[in-house]
Amino acid sequence: MGTLKDIGYKVVKNFITIEEANLIKEYCILRHKINFDDIKLNDFQQNNNGDTSIYADPLTEGLLISKTKLMEQESGLKLFPTYSFWRMYTYNAELKPHKDRESCEISVTVMFGSDGTSWPFFVGDKEIELQTGDAVLYLGTQVKHWREPFTGDWHAQGFLHYVDQDGPHAEWERDKRPQFALRNEYLAKLEAKMKKRKGQFEEVPVKK
Ligand SMILES: [Fe+2]
Repeated sequence: MGTLKDIGYKVVKNFITIEEANLIKEYCILRHKINFDDIKLNDFQQNNNGDTSIYADPLTEGLLISKTKLMEQESGLKLFPTYSFWRMYTYNAELKPHKDRESCEISVTVMFGSDGTSWPFFVGDKEIELQTGDAVLYLGTQVKHWREPFTGDWHAQGFLHYVDQDGPHAEWERDKRPQFALRNEYLAKLEAKMKKRKGQFEEVPVKK
């Protein structure tokens, strides 16, 4: 069997333990139930069905960082983590065939849990059915991947993204953010806070 770069994808059983998966799954269910902000309604890759979809959740950002070593072992590459994402897919969700942006050069999708409905992941010419805790690594920018419309009630899936430290997309380290777990709205808040502070503490001219 060739490397990830040769074949384009790779299944890793037990990428996370059942205990880790159960904890994350329960978190995703609760987060979905109280989610009134992060609902995807007009994603061009998805059906308009009110899934919860969260970029850079601190929980999955922690998973992203903690799995870097394992990802390096599985891919045979030195990697920079870029960003994480998770989604609570619900009835009729669909992931149309697509490739990803630069930050997703080396990607992994991790099965957190579901209501038990079969929902294969297609990558290249391969159909893959993941069990809880399993993952599939794939070259997100190069290999087309998709899922057919979901016929069950719920399915929680995480995405961890990395770039090759020696590859063409290394500049996307941390998805070009100053810190992990930062999202655009946090950055906007941070900027507003800094502006306010600047106003409060006017610089005193230094006497010469
Ligand atoms: Fe993708």
